[in-house]
Amino acid sequence: MFNSKIIGFESYVPQNSITNDELSKLVDTSDEWIYTRTGISKRCLSTKENTSDFAINVAKKLLENNNVSAEDIDIIIVATITPDYLTPSTACIVQGNIGAKNALAFDINVACSGFVYALSVADKFLKSGLYKNAIVIGAETLSKLIDWKDRGTCVLFGDGSGGALLTASKDYNSILSEDLKADGTSFKAITGGKIPNVNPFTEEKEEEDFYLQMNGRDVFNFATKTVPKSVNEILKKANITLDDVKYIVPHQANSRIVEVVAKKLGVSLDKFYLNLQTYGNTSAASIPIALAEMSKNKLLQKGDKIIITGFGGGLTWASMLVQI
Ligand code: UT7
Repeated sequence: MFNSKIIGFESYVPQNSITNDELSKLVDTSDEWIYTRTGISKRCLSTKENTSDFAINVAKKLLENNNVSAEDIDIIIVATITPDYLTPSTACIVQGNIGAKNALAFDINVACSGFVYALSVADKFLKSGLYKNAIVIGAETLSKLIDWKDRGTCVLFGDGSGGALLTASKDYNSILSEDLKADGTSFKAITGGKIPNVNPFTEEKEEEDFYLQMNGRDVFNFATKTVPKSVNEILKKANITLDDVKYIVPHQANSRIVEVVAKKLGVSLDKFYLNLQTYGNTSAASIPIALAEMSKNKLLQKGDKIIITGFGGGLTWASMLVQI
C-alpha cells in the first residue's frame, strides 16, 4: 500500500512588481481602495515570460533542491487557466524542457482550486503503486487574461508559479483527507478566455468576451459560505480538530474573505498564512507560492498538519489536510 509523501515546495514569480499606486495611473482606483477592500499592495506581472517559463523554473528548482533527476519523474501535472497554448499542454512543455523523458504530462483547468485538485490527482496515481515521483505545479500568467481597462478586476490579479515534488511512500502519508467539489450551475460568476464561433457557417458572430469577468460579490459570498464547511468536512474525515492544525493556507484572493472564514471557524486570523499583500491573486499558483515561502522561512516542520483550501472558477472548491 503506497501513499504520497511531499518532499519539497518551490516557487518562481516574475521580477516586475507593480504597486497599487502604479495601477492608479492606468485606471480610476487608489491604493486605499485596493488595500482596504482586498489586502493587496502589489503584484508581480510578466513582461515577457509565459506560464511554461514560470513552471519550468519551479520544476528545475524542485529537482535540484531535492536531488532528484528528471529521468526519475513519472508524472507532471500543471494546474493553470492561462496555458501558453490550448495545445500542447503547459505540462508537456515543462516535460520536454527539463528532460523528464519517462514522465506522462497533462494540464488541469480548475482555476483557483487547481493546485489542490492537481495534488489530489497525483496522489491517486502514486497510491496505485504504478508511479513513483510526481511534480505538481500551479502556474498562471493572469495578466494575459485581464482587461487592463477594468478596474474591478485588473487590480486583483498577479502572475507566478509554485509547486510540489511528491514521491510514493510505504511509511509516510502527506495527504490525510480531502474535499473536492464543483457547482457548475454558477459557472457564470467567473469566466475568461471565451473562444468565439468563427467558422464560415456560423449564423451570427458571437460577442467576444475573452477577458476575465467576475461577479465579485457573488464569489465573495460563495467563498465565505463554502470554505468553512469544506474545512470542517476534512477535519471530520480525519477525526481531528483545528487545534491539531498548525496553519490554514487559503487561496490568496482577499483578506476580507479570510477574516469572515476565520470568524465562522472560530479561530484566530493568526492561524492563516497570507501573502496576497505582495503577490495579489495568482489563481492556481497562490497556494503553492505560499507553501514555498513558508517552507523557505522554516515555518513548516516535518509532521506538522496544515490545511490548504482553494476556491474559485467553475465554481469549484477544494480543501486538503496535509502532513508535512
Ligand atoms: O480567485 C477567484 C476568486 N475571486 C475572489 O475571491 C473575489 C471575491 N470578491 C472580492 O474580492 C470582492 O468582491 C472585490 C474585491 C472584487 C470587490 O469588492 P466589493 O467590496 O465587493 O466591491 P464592489 O464590487 O461591490 O464595488 C464597490 C464599489 C463600486 O462602486 P459603486 O457602484 O459603489 O459606486 C465599484 O465600481 O467600488 C467600485 N470599484 C472600485 N473603486 C476603486 C470597483 N473596483 C474598484 C477599484 N477602485 N479598483
